[in-house]
Amino acid sequence: MSISARLPVFPWDRLEPYKAAAAAHPDGVVDLSVGTPVDPVPEVIRQALTAAADSPGYPLTYGTAALRAAAADYLRTWHGVAGADPRHILPLIGSKELVGWLPTLLDLREGDQVGYPQLAYPTYEIGALMARAEPVTYDDPVADLDPARVKLLWLNSPSNPTGRVLGAPELRRIVGWAREHRILVVSDECYIELGWEGEEPVSVLHPDVCGGSHDGLVAVHSLSKRSNFAGYRGAFLAGDPAVVAELLAVRKHAGMIVPQPVQAAMVAALGDRAHAVEQKERYARRRTALRTALEAAGFRIEHSEASLYLWATRGEGCWETVADLAKRGILVAPGEFYGPTGAAFVRVALTATDERIAAAVERLA
Ligand SMILES: Cc1ncc(COP(=O)(O)O)c(C=O)c1O
Repeated sequence: MSISARLPVFPWDRLEPYKAAAAAHPDGVVDLSVGTPVDPVPEVIRQALTAAADSPGYPLTYGTAALRAAAADYLRTWHGVAGADPRHILPLIGSKELVGWLPTLLDLREGDQVGYPQLAYPTYEIGALMARAEPVTYDDPVADLDPARVKLLWLNSPSNPTGRVLGAPELRRIVGWAREHRILVVSDECYIELGWEGEEPVSVLHPDVCGGSHDGLVAVHSLSKRSNFAGYRGAFLAGDPAVVAELLAVRKHAGMIVPQPVQAAMVAALGDRAHAVEQKERYARRRTALRTALEAAGFRIEHSEASLYLWATRGEGCWETVADLAKRGILVAPGEFYGPTGAAFVRVALTATDERIAAAVERLA
């Protein structure tokens, strides 16, 4: 049997008819269905990429010393990860690559379970299936999962798709339980800089959560959203020294190497705060405009305290909402893509230009 036969049908194909309907709008589609950056790559990052264009030799899987130092500094400075150590950082070719391959790289297999939230980025399930492990979902991991079988627990705060944030006490409770049962916790923190209201998102490696030790914990940070870096492919992980060492050993053999010019661009991105603040302000403006317009149009927004999405419902099936919005030239993602409990919701991404967001607001009125 092929691997693809084990995997679910690529869900986005099901959106195609609605995409065609939305595209028929006389003023063009407003595509809010995917969270892909649309604003320019910041100049400081482009310059670093260009300056490293002459890179004929093989790059290091472990990353340059400059990159690992920049990542550790970034975690310490902006996320209060006091124990961040350049030795325990590993660059990634974007974080989706890790999510898809981690269970395989950690030698999980049939009989092992991989836990992830009930409403989640679909690739956590894919990663489990690639390894022939069993995907299991949770509302509360401590209450819902069998600690004897779960080998890997994914956290995702702020969450895609709900924008929900887990506070430090909640994270500490989950980490305590996982450590007691020797379950590896991997925290996907790609939206950590995009907190809008309520508690500031916190890293699993923050001393308030982990108590100062990174044992049994890995944090994954993507530059895609923070730095409009999705096209370059750049992310990194940090945490438990033994896990980082094992992943490095395997990834070296497997050729999972971040290109040298991209590593240089990551150093520039991680060292610069101004562009990330500017980008966050853009998203904040778009979020306020879209949220106001959706609420005025009869939607209720749940969670969405952080991340790049509004998790919205009109109390009807998600495909009904998708179809109605497509008629108005607006494409959104059906909540069902993220888990059965999302069936009455749609996910509305903030990733469109100011001009397209204004068009959406007008069409919702
Ligand atoms: C929760 C989550 N994790 C990981 C990713 C992958 O991001 P990238 O591969 O660009 O780092 C995404 C992308 O949207 C995401 O929403």
